[in-house]
Amino acid sequence: MKLPPTQVAVLERASADDPTEIDELAAQLDEKPETITGAAFALEEEGLLSISERSEVTVSLTEEGRRYVAEGLPEVRLYEAALSAGADETPVSMGEVLGSADLEGETVDIALSNFARKGYGAIEAGEITAASDVTPEADEETTALTAVADGESIEDDLRERLESRNLIETAERTHRAVTLTEAGVTELMAGVEAAERVDRLEPEHLSSGEWEDLQFAAYNVEADAEAPTPGKRHILRQAAKRVKEVLVGMGFKEMQGPHVDADFWINDCLFMPQDHPARTHWDRFALETPDKIDDLPEELVDRVERAHREGVGEDGDGYHSPWDREFADELALRGHTTSLSARYLSGEQVGDLEPPQRYFSVEKAYRNDTLDATHLLEFFQIEGWVMAEDLTVRDLMGTFTEFYSHFGITDLRFKPTYNPYTEPSFELFGRHPETDELIEIGNSGIFRPEMLEPLGVEADVMAWGLALERLLMLMTGFEDIRDVHGTLVDLDFLRSVEVEY
Ligand code: PHE
Repeated sequence: MKLPPTQVAVLERASADDPTEIDELAAQLDEKPETITGAAFALEEEGLLSISERSEVTVSLTEEGRRYVAEGLPEVRLYEAALSAGADETPVSMGEVLGSADLEGETVDIALSNFARKGYGAIEAGEITAASDVTPEADEETTALTAVADGESIEDDLRERLESRNLIETAERTHRAVTLTEAGVTELMAGVEAAERVDRLEPEHLSSGEWEDLQFAAYNVEADAEAPTPGKRHILRQAAKRVKEVLVGMGFKEMQGPHVDADFWINDCLFMPQDHPARTHWDRFALETPDKIDDLPEELVDRVERAHREGVGEDGDGYHSPWDREFADELALRGHTTSLSARYLSGEQVGDLEPPQRYFSVEKAYRNDTLDATHLLEFFQIEGWVMAEDLTVRDLMGTFTEFYSHFGITDLRFKPTYNPYTEPSFELFGRHPETDELIEIGNSGIFRPEMLEPLGVEADVMAWGLALERLLMLMTGFEDIRDVHGTLVDLDFLRSVEVEY
């Protein structure tokens, strides 16, 4: 029989009568114990050796433990000092006893709590009384500590007590020993030779004919291996990709446009009054340089301004609030991607559009929100709109029902809301798979004439802004948006989660 050299050496040194310790074999063969253990396990697998194990707990003193072996346990020193001061007869002042026991700092607390625990006496109103019926010379913790110092073994309960006082440390080690099996003896008698063991076949092995005598290492397919965590597409990007595929499948075209845009496109075109709270610096990330856009389409600006001031239609009415051209020119990070819808609907982006039309984008929007489990300073918005004749709320609901069904989300709820640019308007809710709570997943509505007329759109337009992160929450069940975005992300979650559809 041919075996790798270490295995041959172990086999030859093992006995059929008495177990031989692996440590001893390692010393004899001048190998690491791990190497010998590996060889022994391989031989055990072959049935040539049996392995026996025993575990040994070694106990050693900590630094603090060593100090008390030399100086005595603090509570014992306190008791002895109290006794010398006559505290077994009349209470003595604490300060005096501590001084003569030479106790200070945190040792004082240790002394006091153990003094009380062991019933050495009582401390009341700054005075100490010593019990007269205790014999600190026989303190079992002191005895055990000295035993450990002398390398002797101690009782389990004392070991635990000293360990919890941090005076000793224990370490457990497994010792293994090998014994030849009958098969091992038989093989040894038949003759065991050392063979070189290789883990791969090389061309030279074949050309030299050496392969015939080589021992090949077997693959252990059950061995624990490190799980590789290579780079992968972030789940938000995976989800964005999937959303795009679904919307393209539903006949939508993708919109593109600037992250930084004029307030005109972000808000004025949406019939958002200039004094609307969302347009203040509280919500908005304004740009410092450059701070103004220089190419707004003038005619459109005039029409938008007129809608704000006078409203549209026969009985239209405006906001009667200030409208400042300077503000319309100001640049900011877009607070929603509805700025893209305004650009596309106006004809500025891809020319005038004839109904029917469907457009979408899955892009970042930025808001100066307070960070919490559901709000970030930036998020991905799934923007979309459909331009057609005679659209109704049913069309809007049907579109959402179809869209979300692609992601397995079927329990949608609608709640009327208010947006300056849509009428009617609906917030959209879905049920969180873990918490069962209804969470808001989007906002939508049918664009108002005050918005569409200045943009030159005659057909109806239904539109929405949905949060990609919220969609993902419903799909994967995570509960805190900071698990997937930002510096506190849950890496294990990101590594293991897949967007399934
Ligand atoms: N802009 C809205 C938001 O950010 C979403 C929306 C878009 C609502 C279009 C209605 C119509 O919440």
